[in-house]
Amino acid sequence: MSNFSQTVNQDLSLSEESLQIDYLSGSNLLSNSLDGQDVILGLTQTPKTLPARYFYNQRGSELFEQICELPEYYPTRTEAQILQQYAQEIAQMTGACELVELGSGSSTKTRLLLDAYQALGSKFRYVPIDVSGEILVESARQLRQDYPKLDIQGLVGTYTQAMEKLTPSSFPSRLIFFLGSSLGNFSSQDCDRFFSQIKAALDAGEYFLLGVDLQKPKHLLEAAYNDSQGVTAQFNLNMLEHLNQRFAGNFDPKLFEHWAFYNEEFNQIEMHLRSLQSQTVCLEALNLKIKFEAGETIRTEISRKFDKDEMKQQLQAQGLKPLTVWTDPKQWFGLFLAQKSEVN
Ligand code: AVJ
Repeated sequence: MSNFSQTVNQDLSLSEESLQIDYLSGSNLLSNSLDGQDVILGLTQTPKTLPARYFYNQRGSELFEQICELPEYYPTRTEAQILQQYAQEIAQMTGACELVELGSGSSTKTRLLLDAYQALGSKFRYVPIDVSGEILVESARQLRQDYPKLDIQGLVGTYTQAMEKLTPSSFPSRLIFFLGSSLGNFSSQDCDRFFSQIKAALDAGEYFLLGVDLQKPKHLLEAAYNDSQGVTAQFNLNMLEHLNQRFAGNFDPKLFEHWAFYNEEFNQIEMHLRSLQSQTVCLEALNLKIKFEAGETIRTEISRKFDKDEMKQQLQAQGLKPLTVWTDPKQWFGLFLAQKSEVN
């Protein structure tokens, strides 16, 4: 049985000799009958939660791009600086490669890696993977303008779907990379599962590049998620608008407020939406009515902050041998290059 279907959406599909975007089945969220089950689950449990992926409708993705530019939000800038400085070294260490990017989004930081592999002069291919077909097609088009000879084979789907789909590459090696500290959204259990999927998708000797946010003083972290322009608050509240659109809901964002704090016990930022009064909200398409007490919150995101040595140990324990960790001078962000072990 194949969970892979060829390009299904004519409007979004692109297919030329060296530019192809494939849709993995079930990745078209409109036709996914399971869409929304996670919302029901999250809103009917105590305390209430919602999956962070519901931040990212069109507006949410735009707001996230704005967050990345905020003076208080250091992660994007810091990771880009590290890549700028070490991309060449990474390219030299791995050699000719198939570059597989998980959650490629707008592929901005990717360009630093592409430039380095191009400078190396050997053949390589770029395989971006994202749940949003629109964003994938748009960024593939833009990359093609700037890298006319680049071979792009994109996949629209979840990480799990895509990693199951990866077949042994025809390139001498493969590098799967996951930037932007998106790993921070995963619970430690999800994290273990994710690493074992990475390991299963790689052949012995192939590479995994991971960018994660590191632990640092609470005031710096809390400032990054409570910016003075209120963009993060808009980003958080936009999840309610997204649910309204998607599931015929009647959330009134004015009746909720943004709340973000650093939980030092679990080393994670938590973002919540707090109900300003007691109220009942309805999501018609899900046949769901939810009651809120005044002051009750929905946790919309965890953003875990990692310890450099613990992350090295965890990668090692998962059969992904850490080779090098690059950081910025303040050690705010870490970029880990690991290699799948020959023997497990
Ligand atoms: C995309 C998950 C890395 O956790 O910092 C930014 C999302 N949330 N501001 C993060 C986010 C609030 C971001 N990640």
